[in-house]
This record gives sequence, structure tokens and C-alpha cells, in this order.
Amino acid sequence: MKLTIKNDCLGIDFHKVFEILKKVEMGTNPPIIIKKAFENSQKVVFIFDNDEMVGFGRALSDGGYQAAIYDVALLPKYQGKGLGRLIIENLISGFSGFNIILYANPGKEDFYRKLNFRKMKTAMALFINPEEKTENGFIE
Ligand SMILES: CC(C)(COP(=O)(O)OP(=O)(O)OC[C@H]1O[C@@H](n2cnc3c(N)ncnc32)[C@H](O)[C@@H]1OP(=O)(O)O)[C@@H](O)C(=O)NCCC(=O)NCCS
Repeated sequence: MKLTIKNDCLGIDFHKVFEILKKVEMGTNPPIIIKKAFENSQKVVFIFDNDEMVGFGRALSDGGYQAAIYDVALLPKYQGKGLGRLIIENLISGFSGFNIILYANPGKEDFYRKLNFRKMKTAMALFINPEEKTENGFIE
């Protein structure tokens, strides 16, 4: 592996981002919307192995004291090698002094626990697709 980290969206192939999201069952938005979401995020991280994009993540922030992480994913064959940790550490490095929230995919909670995230007791969400989110184990 020859890994590099990229912290901007210049030249990013968002069809590839879409494909990776789809592969890990996080893909419901089309590439053009994904591109908009990444470009409007305060911090983005893309991991490349040579020329191939293998994973990414992004964070939103109000610039004051709150931030939120979304779309953290790696191609299956790159999972379990410390790259998820690398993505999160890179994402949060710019947000010292900020509260950082996210919602984990069901089953991934312990990954975030290892990175010092703690389970929220009062999190509430107004999802656009509540039935699907209920079915997938995100909400009551
Ligand atoms: C979740 C994901 C980003 C984790 O990345 P990763 O590269 O596989 O994880 P890492 O190798 O960096 O693991 C870091 C630590 O978390 C642990 N860990 C990783 N996934 C875990 C899981 N599902 N449950 C419990 N622990 C887990 C690792 O064992 C490791 O522990 P260690 O530091 O004691 O060795 C990755 O598996 C992935 O892309 N999954 C599919 C998409 C997804 O669900 N994304 C999360 C959206 S919320």
C-alpha cells in the first residue's frame, strides 16, 4: 500500500465516492448531491492507495464550537487496517475545543468508542426517511 491523504475536493471523482458508499450500503444519494455535500463540508478527508481512492469522511462545523461527522467509509478490502481511525483522527484534528457528534451505523458503535466517542442519551433526529431508518436500526 502507498497511502496518501487528501484534504480537499479538487479533482475528486464523485462517481467513485458514490460507488464506495453504495458498496458499503451507505449510498442513497446521487453523485451530484454527494459532491455538493463534500464541497460544502468544512473538512474532508480522502484516502488514496496510489491513484485509487479507497475511503473518505467529512465534517461540518459552525466554526465556533459544534461539529458533525458524516460519510466515513472505506472499501471493504481496506477495512480493519487502521484507516478508519486515520480518517477520524484527521477529521477531528481541526476541531479541538469543539463538540463533535455523529450517528454510527448499527454495529459500528465500538469503532467510535475506541476513538473516545460516547453514546448520546438524548440524541433526536428528524430524518427524511424515518421508516427506512427505523428498519435499519437507527431510530425507535
Ligand atoms: C467503520 C469503518 C470506517 C472502520 O474503519 P476500519 O479501518 O475498518 O477500522 P480501524 O481498522 O481503523 O479500527 C480502529 C479500531 O476500531 C476497531 N473496530 C473497527 N471496526 C469495528 C467494529 N465494527 N466493531 C468494533 N470495533 C471495531 C478495530 O478493531 C480497531 O481497534 P484497535 O485500535 O483496538 O485495534 C470501516 O469498517 C467501514 O468503512 N465500514 C463500512 C462503512 C461504515 O459502516 N461506516 C461507518 C459509518 S457510521
